[in-house]
Amino acid sequence: MKKTLLIAAAVSVVAFAGMNTATAGDITKKCKSCHATSKDKVGPSWKKIQAAYGSADTLAAVFESGFAVDDRKVAATDAKFKKKAKVMSGQYKNLIKKQVKKGKFTYNELAEAIFAK
Ligand code: HEC
Repeated sequence: MKKTLLIAAAVSVVAFAGMNTATAGDITKKCKSCHATSKDKVGPSWKKIQAAYGSADTLAAVFESGFAVDDRKVAATDAKFKKKAKVMSGQYKNLIKKQVKKGKFTYNELAEAIFAK
């Protein structure tokens, strides 16, 4: 009986650890087809985004308020990226807003993950 309980406890610890890496570690995984840490790809680098927003809180607030093109700080100063704003608007809907609604992560966690790069 005791042994069974121990095994059950061990299994749940492993399951929990597995879940953590699947969620917390990979929030920006789907962004990587267009974003890299230091180099611009289809979208601006995470470093450029960090410089434009200054803090994860500021970025989280813009995500949370709906990520309107007029509120985007990179697009505000970079005509090349402003032209591509529509591309990011689609990504925002599917990869960010929908996922936050589903409880996968919060706007703050996502912004922190970008600032940790
Ligand atoms: C299909 C390509 C693509 C994917 C995938 C993508 N992005 Fe973008 N992203 C862009 C483009 C293009 C821009 C430049 C347009 C703009 O600034 O709105 C951009 C800009 C941004 C900006 C800066 C906006 C600004 O102008 O201040 C942030 C922040 C951002 N993306 C976050 C993300 C995050 C987080 C993900 C993943 C959840 C993601 N992107 C996935 C293409 C993409």
